[in-house]
Amino acid sequence: MLPKIRHCEDAYTREGLPTLFQLSDVPELRSLDRALADSRYKRIDPSLVLTVGRDELPPTSGRQFEVLEIDSWLNVYCHLSGMPKTAARLQKLVLKSIPHDAIYGAIKSSAGHVACGLAVIDDEFIGLFDILTHPNYRRHGHARQLILNLMHHGSKNGVHTGYLQVAKDNKPALELYKHIGYQSLYQSWYRIRQGLETRSVESA
Ligand SMILES: CC(C)(COP(=O)(O)OP(=O)(O)OC[C@H]1O[C@@H](n2cnc3c(N)ncnc32)[C@H](O)[C@@H]1OP(=O)(O)O)[C@@H](O)C(=O)NCCC(=O)NCCS
Repeated sequence: MLPKIRHCEDAYTREGLPTLFQLSDVPELRSLDRALADSRYKRIDPSLVLTVGRDELPPTSGRQFEVLEIDSWLNVYCHLSGMPKTAARLQKLVLKSIPHDAIYGAIKSSAGHVACGLAVIDDEFIGLFDILTHPNYRRHGHARQLILNLMHHGSKNGVHTGYLQVAKDNKPALELYKHIGYQSLYQSWYRIRQGLETRSVESA
């Protein structure tokens, strides 16, 4: 196991990056997680992967759901999140590299756009990302309607399961997804350690 870890570290170090492993609680990854812990890798960003069956979703309401073009959606996302427009350019490159169909959705109220998020469709699966409601308009059911509309809109062609990833300590989001019917499938986390210089010093 250790030589394989070292091999990964060398690859990251060549790129000038700290080594990062993504793990989950499937039994097959237990020994890797232990080996990384023994090599002083820190566990960070614990999250849950949740799923829901398409047939388990409640119906949508007639709330103002819109499907936007990527540029308009990024404008809405910047407005709701406070993300600078310069960062949106990078975000656009990331979104454009998604190798599947994506639906860019938003909820518009009389106050303008109040919530946005996107769905990615991969065969029978539909994943949700970047779900966000403006802080001034939370607890009005906007995210719930956004998600249900994205799910119903995207679930037309053989999609049967929705999934998403959420930080374990994000209580509002966890409550939201539970409220809609999502259930925990597995846990995920990263293990990180600084570059090879640290390793050389420690193992000297
Ligand atoms: C999580 C988030 C999207 C919820 O948006 P929202 O529009 O306020 O959610 P809704 O009003 O649709 O909530 C629907 C239900 O979810 C649950 N819920 C939502 N926020 C909650 C909170 N802060 N505390 C407890 N329950 C909450 C409730 O059951 C709520 O129903 P209720 O208000 O009738 O009790 C919003 O808090 C947000 O934008 N957070 C920052 C971004 C984020 O964390 N996104 C998720 C990434 S995975």
